[in-house]
Amino acid sequence: MPTLHEIARTMVSDRRGILAADESVGTMSKRLEGVGVEPTEENRRRYRELLLTTAGLSDSISGAILSDETFRQELSDGTTFPAALAERGVLAGIKVDTGATPLAGAPDEKITEGLDGLRGRLEEYVDLGASFTKWRAVFSIGDGLPSARAIHANAHALARYAGLCQEAGLVPIVEPEVVMDGDHSLEACRRVTTTVLRAVFTELGLMEVRLDGIVLKPNMVVAGGGCAQQPAASEVAQSTVDTLRETVPPGVPGIAFLSGGQSPEEATANLAAMQEITPLPWELTYSFGRALVGPALETWQGSDDGWAAAQKALSERAVANASVR
Ligand code: G3H
Repeated sequence: MPTLHEIARTMVSDRRGILAADESVGTMSKRLEGVGVEPTEENRRRYRELLLTTAGLSDSISGAILSDETFRQELSDGTTFPAALAERGVLAGIKVDTGATPLAGAPDEKITEGLDGLRGRLEEYVDLGASFTKWRAVFSIGDGLPSARAIHANAHALARYAGLCQEAGLVPIVEPEVVMDGDHSLEACRRVTTTVLRAVFTELGLMEVRLDGIVLKPNMVVAGGGCAQQPAASEVAQSTVDTLRETVPPGVPGIAFLSGGQSPEEATANLAAMQEITPLPWELTYSFGRALVGPALETWQGSDDGWAAAQKALSERAVANASVR
């Protein structure tokens, strides 16, 4: 049995990244509707089969994060999704949070839920073939936001989640996302990301989470989507790495970035620029959702005729991200 540290190292090493295909039923349904595909359970299953049976995926992808629905579904040949990933040399991960809801007394902010009953659910996911998990906390930048209570509540929940996962023998992906919505500057994103990451590592320490057995999944430090001054990739890279150096202990094996609404090309270019900054104490890689699978979804459009071209689109993005080192 590999240790938590060995699993975490596998997830972030050898130029490979983690595919985030764990959209909730609601989010996945909206994305399917966006490309004219009926949002049925079967179409969600077919789409995930398309992604995860892409030839050569394991050359660029170490693990795939699935949703609860997909984790219990099967490929057309009857193989369960976790077993199909194992056959392909890809670790199976499962999103275990149950989503973000308004924080009490702070309707503009969210708290991620899912701790109730989590210990039992984790045992089941281990039996179904999971090696790792994911929990996402969201923080918005705005007038007085994020508040200290939103940061504290979400950091605390992330640490409780991470402790339970390690107890179950699963590597937790710890995902605190400062979202890109708004017109804030790069500097504002850097300040908030620094504060959030400090709080997260304080709570992980209090909960005695083993830092060598986690993967951190943060946002890159970018300007808000509505900011007139959009920084170059070199600025994003330097600002992100400087922020991480200030906040992330060197014992963390690796950092796998979310894409957060960046275009596929932007996310790849920003990652590539970060790889040029050395030496760094942790592996830097990607755990993109939209920036990795978006082109495949747009190409597929629900048709069997588009299947091969969609797999090619995913493969191209995965190879581009895995080649940036
Ligand atoms: O929770 C968010 C996903 O894990 C990453 O998705 O790359 O589209 O932001 P994204």
